[in-house]
Amino acid sequence: MSPSSPGPRSRALGRRAGRVLVGGVDSPVRSFRSVGGSPVFFARGQGAYLVDVDGRRYLDLVSSWGANLLGNAPRGIVAAVRRTVAAGLTFGAPSPLEHELAEQLRRAAPALERLRFVSSGTEAVMSAVRVARGFTGRAKVVKFAGGYHGHSDGLLARAGSGVASQSLPDSAGVPSAIVGETLVARYNDPEGLAALFERHGPSVAVVVVEPVAGNMGVVPPRPGFLETLSTLAHRHGALVLADEVITGFRLRRGTVHESLGLSADLVTLGKVVGGGMPIGAYGGRRAVMETVAPLGPVYQAGTLSGHPLAMAAGRAMLERLTPSVYRTLDRTGAALAEMVQRLAEEERVRPFTGQRVGSMLGLFFASGPIVDDRGAEASDRARYARFFHAVLDHGVYLPPSALETTFTSAAIRAPDLARAEAAFRAGFRAARSGRP
Ligand SMILES: Cc1ncc(COP(=O)(O)O)c(C=O)c1O
Repeated sequence: MSPSSPGPRSRALGRRAGRVLVGGVDSPVRSFRSVGGSPVFFARGQGAYLVDVDGRRYLDLVSSWGANLLGNAPRGIVAAVRRTVAAGLTFGAPSPLEHELAEQLRRAAPALERLRFVSSGTEAVMSAVRVARGFTGRAKVVKFAGGYHGHSDGLLARAGSGVASQSLPDSAGVPSAIVGETLVARYNDPEGLAALFERHGPSVAVVVVEPVAGNMGVVPPRPGFLETLSTLAHRHGALVLADEVITGFRLRRGTVHESLGLSADLVTLGKVVGGGMPIGAYGGRRAVMETVAPLGPVYQAGTLSGHPLAMAAGRAMLERLTPSVYRTLDRTGAALAEMVQRLAEEERVRPFTGQRVGSMLGLFFASGPIVDDRGAEASDRARYARFFHAVLDHGVYLPPSALETTFTSAAIRAPDLARAEAAFRAGFRAARSGRP
């Protein structure tokens, strides 16, 4: 069955964009390559819904990859941006909004003794890794297979076999000398990590980890894993970088790594803290962060860093992140996960595993529990593609890739989910139909 979405205008825009933008998009996942078809072009968004250029309405379960925690175009954030824009777009010089947002962040996340704003999560992690190397005087970085930390050269590596020395670049154009400084371990595998430290301990500058993995579906840490990681790293003189670009201020008002047992020296943020504007931030222990210029020898800079509009949107977002927002997010997340699991059972789609942490939900057409990249990659992508298109045709926008996370926003209410039930049922029927 060929999907009826997107409509004719989206298709026409897709063709036009493809003649000037690489692949028609500015970030590969938006192209629908992994689910087939051509992307939906959006005209506007309000609250829980997006409207495409053909006038079709979709329940938004992508939330701009997690950034739109309060839904689309929250009135208070839009008003703050309007007020700020009237005063000037950019100064390339300090403005009070920067330290005001920094103060708000630190009050909620005390691990950020000192921080710096940049313009994307990629930049934040890339810069934090440089700081870790500058501070320790060591070169190697440990990451986990299936963990994504932006597209900087050294972090585009994953384990071919889980053996550190066999790191392979995920992207053409990344010299093997650079990726050779990246060691890839397996998430939720403390023994593997211990073996890696036995071999490479003295040269490891930093271990980079998502406290809840959100780039291989949703994979929570097993009890004790993050504690062991912290102990191993610190025992060997390496730093720990909690990449909270997704989880920070999404799972709670602040960072989440402490409550999961991770003892971090550096933390990265992005997405939610920019209120829908381009942002990244890295920070951590004062002694570590004060190696950054102008106080120290680690250079990092940005023409538009701390951009007034991002700072204003971030401030307005933080002002609205009350305990009741997180209660709503948790309730909605739980209701969505329960509905999806029930429908998969009713439609006898097996294997299927939904894994949820708060407002993050991973949908795997695989047997669970999924604990690492191997489990996630066992998910049947052809099934996900059929599921995705049927759900889309029924007015629900899911991530156009099987290994991405579904993000709910606080704008989604019970009636929105109830209306989405038919879409998910159609999705599971389509997912099942490909198998005899
Ligand atoms: C955990 C994590 N770190 C870093 C990044 C990179 O952020 P950005 O896309 O803003 O460069 C992402 C993006 O999804 C992410 O999920």
